[in-house]
Amino acid sequence: MPVNIVVGSQWGDEGKGRITDLLAAQADIVARYSGGDNAGHTVTIGAEVFKLHLTPSGIVHEDVVCLIGNGVVVNPAVLLREIDGLAARGVNVTPQRLKICRKAHLITPAHIALDKGYEAARGQEAIGTTQRGIGPAYTDKAQRSGLRAGLLADVEGLADAVAAHVESKNRILTDVLGQPPLPVKETALAYAQYASRLAPYLTDGSLYLSEALAAGKNILAEGAQGTLLDLDHGTYPFVTSSSSTASGALIGLGVGPRCVSEIVGVAKAFTSRVGSGPFPAEISGEAALRLRGTGANPWDEYGTTTGRPRRVGWLDLVILRYAARINSLTQLALTKLDILSGLSQIPVCVAYDLAGQRTTHFPTDLAELAHCQPVYEMLPGWDEDISGARVWADLPRNARQYVKFVAEQVGVPVSLVSVGPAREQVVVC
Ligand code: GDP
Ligand code: IMO
Ligand code: MG
Repeated sequence: MPVNIVVGSQWGDEGKGRITDLLAAQADIVARYSGGDNAGHTVTIGAEVFKLHLTPSGIVHEDVVCLIGNGVVVNPAVLLREIDGLAARGVNVTPQRLKICRKAHLITPAHIALDKGYEAARGQEAIGTTQRGIGPAYTDKAQRSGLRAGLLADVEGLADAVAAHVESKNRILTDVLGQPPLPVKETALAYAQYASRLAPYLTDGSLYLSEALAAGKNILAEGAQGTLLDLDHGTYPFVTSSSSTASGALIGLGVGPRCVSEIVGVAKAFTSRVGSGPFPAEISGEAALRLRGTGANPWDEYGTTTGRPRRVGWLDLVILRYAARINSLTQLALTKLDILSGLSQIPVCVAYDLAGQRTTHFPTDLAELAHCQPVYEMLPGWDEDISGARVWADLPRNARQYVKFVAEQVGVPVSLVSVGPAREQVVVC
């Protein structure tokens, strides 16, 4: 039985949590494969809004088991806060409902202090990270000095390892970055306490998934971030430090390519980006405010993790074609189409102009991307409020035309059109 993958097609915040929640109805297991609590995934069920950072978005389905895969970096303090927050809202995240792969890596306060220190040192060149310690934790993993989640099963071993880790990072913090040192003993003690609560959640993620596949179960792999934030394929260096593309699901969960069936690229009907870096179809002023919203609605474009206003722009099909290529997308889920209602014409970026040359390929070179000018095609808009649409025929003609145009230009069918944040606000195409 298959592994289906949900992956972000743009710069994150496409609505992966919302689409994962929808598809989780057909899944037995929902597994996060990359990133950490830099992610903020929103699931809306009626009046209830869940903002999830580490717990997979399948958690609100009682009969779904969630897995935090080996590719994830876990801040245990954040995870425990999330587990407690969910319990307070009646979602009991027991070790039967949530599993953490022993090979996932732990984030510590030292990683967070380093993330902040490096960002400050970058000055004007700052990446605009979420300051959750993500980059330094993955650096330690690649450096082969990381702390794996499996250590949570060995309280004393973990406390010793955390103490040595903080001592070593303190040298960088004080001598290189001019920051105050972190308390060694208190940090080690805190991790020993986290261990006593989190040890029962540990598992061998790959083994768990392979046994589930053999038993005919359906697995949904939930991506974090998006294609353009991927360490290899994103707009480097303005990226995150993990593999957020569909291929990352294989490494980040310990399953092979032959298990994969559908690869659903989630794409917002326009584009947003948090943090620095080039963004060809970015807009500003009144038009931007129109897409971003003022913050009055829960779905307005303000970071789920950091609260930062997101940069916004028109839909960029060069990016979506690139995402289709990098991820082998089999389907697109188009979200926030409702936000475009009321525009008389909608610009869609179909190509870039680079020094007088038209290109439809996303450049590999950041300096080139920075010089790309969007080439727009104007599509006719619609006035109707579409948030109540539930079947294809409910959508106004021009909204259907917009969706068809995207599918044709990208070469991937649009299987879901989301017209609001809530579970039922969707048109299955
Ligand atoms: P993720 O990181 O990809 O899971 O996306 P986020 O949750 O960070 O951001 C997406 C935001 O858009 C959230 O507030 C969602 O509730 C909201 N959202 C998702 N789909 C739709 C939609 O079709 N219409 C509207 N209005 N909001 C949506
Ligand atoms: P979800 O899963 C949007 C961005 C940060 C920054 C860059 C590096 O909710 O889509 P990091 O803290 O990872 O080192 O920051 O990546 N970023 C995201 N932007 N959505 C996310 O996650 C993001 N996770 C990281 O803003 O530009
Ligand atoms: Mg998000």
